[in-house]
Order: sequence, then C-alpha cells, then structure tokens
Amino acid sequence: MNRCGVFDSGIGGISVAKEIIQAKLFDEVIYFGDTARVPYGNKNESTIIRYSLEALEFLKNFDIDFLVVACNSASSVAIDDLKKEAGFPVVGVIEAGVKAIENENKNSNILLIGTKRTISSGKYQKFLSKKGFKNIVSIPTPLFVPLVEEGIVDGKIVDDVFELYFGNIEKNLVDIIILGCTHYPFLSKSFKKHFPNAKLIHSGQAIVSLLKEEYNLTSKNSTTIKLFASDNVEELRYRASIWLNR
Ligand code: DGL
Repeated sequence: MNRCGVFDSGIGGISVAKEIIQAKLFDEVIYFGDTARVPYGNKNESTIIRYSLEALEFLKNFDIDFLVVACNSASSVAIDDLKKEAGFPVVGVIEAGVKAIENENKNSNILLIGTKRTISSGKYQKFLSKKGFKNIVSIPTPLFVPLVEEGIVDGKIVDDVFELYFGNIEKNLVDIIILGCTHYPFLSKSFKKHFPNAKLIHSGQAIVSLLKEEYNLTSKNSTTIKLFASDNVEELRYRASIWLNR
C-alpha cells in the first residue's frame, strides 16, 4: 500500500487532495489541516517552518511514503527543511505551478496571487523569470483565505474583495493567473467571471502532472482519504466532504 501525506494550514489543500484522489495516484491520502493555526500566510518564515515540520511529524505516524506540501506559503519557505527531514520524496506546489506554465508564451501577462508570505518570498517570481517570463504582476490577496475557510466563494463580499485587489488591473489583458494559494481554486467561478480571458493555474492539477511525469506514478484502482485537523476536525471533514464530492 502506498500512502501520501498532504498538508495545508486549513481546508485549502483539499483542492490539491481532490485532484490526487481523482487521478488515483496513491492507495491512500492522509490529509492534515492545521486549522488551529490557519492562516499561515501572514506568519513569519521561522514560524511557518516550525508548523510545517510539526505537520510532517504528525503525518509520519501514518507510515506515509510521499509528502505533498499542499500549501504555497509552506512551499515558499519550508520546502528545503521538509526535504531534509522527511526521508521520502517531498513535492511542493510552487515547483509544480511553475512547471505547469513552462511551455506558455514567454510574453504572457501573468498575474501571480498568493498570501503575503508566498508573494514576499519571491520564489515564484524567481523561478518564473528563470524560465524566461517577463510580464509578471504579483499581488498578495490574503482576504480570500478566511472567505474560503468560511465557505464564502461567490457573491457580493467576494466581488468587493476582487474590486479591492484588482480594481486597477486591466482584466481583459491578463493571460494567466497563478492561483498561488491552495484556497483559491474554490473561488474559480469568481475568477472566471472577473477574468474571462485568463487561464487559471491550479496547484492541484499542477501537482498531479508533476507526480505523473517526474515520479512515474500510475493510476491505482481507487484512492481513499483520511482527514485530520489540529482543531475542529468535524468542521473540516464536513467542508471537505462537500468539496470532494462536487
Ligand atoms: N492554502 C495556503 C497556501 O497555499 C495557506 C493560506 C494561509 O494559511 O494563509 O498558501
């Protein structure tokens, strides 16, 4: 039996776990949402590293043989420490997200959004410019995280937050939006409404492509999931079951 640990600060990583489950790349996914300490994205680097290593310790109890860091904030600052500590392969969503667009036109207008930590770490920006992309606008959009944690993914409040963050952006000119936070795919409908011409890059789909290509993982008969959280696990299980069955 092969088991993949997946963690995030909260419900966001379920957008990644869902893609992994649909692709049936493992027999079992063990999901951990650090709901007692969400959000990660406004914490400092050393705090996110500590939380990420604690998530790894928890997941190791389940005999996992693979770790997917389904959190861009953790992937931006803790990936090296996690790789050192794990003793099995560790994959982060940033390397996957960048790989997902490597064949796109290098003159594309890219809008990169994420938490404050992800954007200020400069990791995406560095990897994207190494690949030759020149037109990158990056904006921290942290308010989307509590909205998604509350299950609010469309409607007036969401539209107001779009206006707050993107009011000055020429939306029709955006070619690619990197959803650099795993909470954001839950807002896909709203992104499509506000940015009709943009291609959305989703950490979960990017991870699945990377796992297939670089780790030669092939489909199993089925993948089960076990859900854990550091607080309010029933709430996480309830919300996750809605998203996973959509
Ligand atoms: N979903 C996470 C990410 O991808 C974290 C959001 C947060 O906790 O601030 O960055």
